[in-house]
Amino acid sequence: MADVQPTDLNAETKRKYRTSFYGNAAEYWSSVPATVDGVLGGFGFISQTDIQGSLSFLKQLFKLQNPPGHGRALDCGAGIGRITKHLLLRFFDKVDLVEQNALFLEESKNFIGKCHKVGNLYCAGKRKQIYIPKGILQ
Ligand SMILES: C[S@@+](CC[C@H](N)C(=O)[O-])C[C@H]1O[C@@H](n2cnc3c(N)ncnc32)[C@H](O)[C@@H]1O
Repeated sequence: MADVQPTDLNAETKRKYRTSFYGNAAEYWSSVPATVDGVLGGFGFISQTDIQGSLSFLKQLFKLQNPPGHGRALDCGAGIGRITKHLLLRFFDKVDLVEQNALFLEESKNFIGKCHKVGNLYCAGKRKQIYIPKGILQ
């Protein structure tokens, strides 16, 4: 039997697939503790290595001829704010977080701690649009 390609599916099947896909993901993340080990699927021990890799990448990025600005960053799928805390706050004046799991987002306040550079915390997943004021992103 020939493989069924996503492009072959009708609109209703695609909608059901998307709904169950994001629903299953949300269910999975709600079963995970709001910790570094939780958001890294039990691989919390790689956190420092992961941050170091991203740090090197960002440093290279800012050395480009037309580098991005340092004004504002959006941490998408932020979890408890691990990337914001250990990486983005070092480079950007303001960091906003988007996370679909409300408990993770709440925990990010404790995990990151008080910091005037943390901007908006958006609790939103794929199916909810967030409003980002014009001009806020560079
Ligand atoms: C592997 S964890 C990584 C968390 C964080 N970025 C980190 O590296 O520590 C992925 C995160 O993305 C969130 N997530 C997954 N799909 C999302 C979506 N469509 N919108 C917003 N958040 C999402 C999950 O709830 C989870 O917290």
